[in-house]
Amino acid sequence: MHYILCKDDKWTEVLKNEIDADFKIKCSAVEGFPLIKIQEDIDLKNEYIAFSTTALINANVIPDNSISKQVTEIEKVLYPQITGVSLVNCHVYALTQKYGILETGRADIVKGKIITALKKKGVSYLRKGFDRSIPFLQILILPDRSIVLSYITKEELNLFHSLISPFVGGFNNVEEDKKAPSRAFKKIVEAQEVMGKSIVEGEVLVDLGACPGGWTYIARKNGAKVTALDRSPLDIELMQDESVTFLKQDAFKYEVSEVVDWVVSDIICIPERILELIDYWVVGKHCKNFIFTIKFQGQKDYGILKRFKNLAKETEYKVILKQLNANKNEVTIMGSIL
Ligand SMILES: C[S@@+](CC[C@H](N)C(=O)[O-])C[C@H]1O[C@@H](n2cnc3c(N)ncnc32)[C@H](O)[C@@H]1O
Repeated sequence: MHYILCKDDKWTEVLKNEIDADFKIKCSAVEGFPLIKIQEDIDLKNEYIAFSTTALINANVIPDNSISKQVTEIEKVLYPQITGVSLVNCHVYALTQKYGILETGRADIVKGKIITALKKKGVSYLRKGFDRSIPFLQILILPDRSIVLSYITKEELNLFHSLISPFVGGFNNVEEDKKAPSRAFKKIVEAQEVMGKSIVEGEVLVDLGACPGGWTYIARKNGAKVTALDRSPLDIELMQDESVTFLKQDAFKYEVSEVVDWVVSDIICIPERILELIDYWVVGKHCKNFIFTIKFQGQKDYGILKRFKNLAKETEYKVILKQLNANKNEVTIMGSIL
């Protein structure tokens, strides 16, 4: 079985419809939870599921029992797979109706026992952050106390890169920053974390539809030189910043003479227009990295995501397409040149 999580139970139906349409199956939701089950013979390698926040691929289900008995079962499944491995990403969490993703209580006890079990085989776990170059062990405790266990190798992690989140249970809460000119700043912070790539000092970034400047603010905080485009000016401090060039012009008509490090767009427009941006910036290889939000009106236009997915599969960029925690009725397409 594959288990796919979405942001919260408001999105379960949307996620289910997306999976049913793309894979021509009828998948099932775990009643009342933001979780979808897909049968194992559906191949998710190099696939995109926009409304999934994270996934447990090729998972085994271990029924409710004492924690010790469940851990013994986990050891049986896990040990043959971790020979020769020395370090893994390890996320252990429970899904609850009241609190969503929880790492405390039963999850914490199970985690302690899993760490000991790994240690017995000489395997350590990454204490902080997420490393896409090592295997990934995920343990999800379901509301009925059964355990979903997914272990994927570093090669598989690469093949499922758009589906797997670096955050426990796909959940991330970007810290508040009162100085940011808008709450939208959270999207660009989260996108960098999901990509495992940061905007760094001295890089050149183009911010399309930048006003009032949350994304430009983060790019400047990271030391980038920014060209910001919008019909309206940015927050006063950003307008006075010597490393910000503001252009009052149509972002869809802007072209560059040299490849830029980053192009980002949070423009409010129909998804078709973001396809135009992808055509110029990504297909035309005018950037090294990109982050674009795709905004929807209601539920009618999700079908267009198929065109984004097809493009993502064809480009020379490593692309992630996902609904970020900071996204409302929108998803984010982001990528870096290979
Ligand atoms: C959601 S806001 C961007 C918020 C911004 N990312 C931030 O962090 O503060 C979308 C912006 O896109 C701009 N916009 C819409 N169409 C545009 C176009 N064709 N060219 C430039 N900007 C455009 C709007 O003026 C608006 O300021």
